[in-house]
Amino acid sequence: VAGYGASKTDGLPLVRAVEDVSLKVEKGRNLGIIGESGCGKSTLARAIAGILPAAVGKIVFDGKELGRSARERTRDQLREMQIVFQYADTALNPAKSVEDILDRPLVFYHGMNARARSLRIDELLDMVRLPRNLRHRRPGELSGGQKQRVNFARALAADPKLILCDEITSALDTVVAAAVIELLKEMQRELGLSYIFISHDLSLVEAICDEIVVMYGGKKVEDITPAKINAPHHPYSQLLFSSVPKLDPSWLDGLEQDPELVRAYCRR
Ligand SMILES: Nc1ncnc2c1ncn2[C@@H]1O[C@H](COP(=O)(O)OP(=O)(O)OP(=O)(O)O)[C@@H](O)[C@H]1O
Ligand SMILES: [Mg+2]
Repeated sequence: VAGYGASKTDGLPLVRAVEDVSLKVEKGRNLGIIGESGCGKSTLARAIAGILPAAVGKIVFDGKELGRSARERTRDQLREMQIVFQYADTALNPAKSVEDILDRPLVFYHGMNARARSLRIDELLDMVRLPRNLRHRRPGELSGGQKQRVNFARALAADPKLILCDEITSALDTVVAAAVIELLKEMQRELGLSYIFISHDLSLVEAICDEIVVMYGGKKVEDITPAKINAPHHPYSQLLFSSVPKLDPSWLDGLEQDPELVRAYCRR
């Protein structure tokens, strides 16, 4: 995908937010996109989903080229590719109940009647491990982790093949984030989904992705598989990968053998 995040209104100049990015996601596999804030990750996800149509380039899904804009795509094409947004809060309409939020894709993509929808909502809430009676609540009455699960359930309601996850855990505490990641993995096993997983947390991306793309300044600078993670080429990726703390269980042994430390602190 080569694209521009652009603001064309009011004669404002075009902003070249993403450029020269080409990537491939295989069925049932996960691709991580990693890079610093502002490097164009969300813009790229929006271009793939057709929300912010790319100015150049092409997007091929299941062997067919997709329209650059969501408006040019068929309903089935829209259904098969869902996006879960960076900010769970703003992604959910605060005035609607969870039931209303989940109803929409069930009507739009599947034309389900009220009874079928109600049954499916129970299933979806079960899938994302939320209690069924939570369907009557509004987003303001949910925790951050619960909101992100509702967002995820809404994406699943479409019956997608690919879910674009844009920093879905960055607003959550570590334990809740880990639970959401576990859920993604379970869903993948059960439903054979693929994910494009955007994050600036390398350890998270490593945990879930088969392949990682590093972006810097709107461009793709490197393709990495977790097995090769210790040998990135681009200086930015090297910096990124070297700044992740690694647990070294033998670090204390090193200190014990340091002659200066031993002299200063050991009374042996
Ligand atoms: N509609 C727009 N108009 C003007 N500039 C934009 C627009 N959308 C994005 N940008 C700019 O494009 C660049 C990429 O933004 P983007 O949101 O894709 O970054 P990101 O990698 O997702 O960052 P973060 O990790 O903070 O979410 C930024 O410099 C941003 O300011
Ligand atoms: Mg972003």
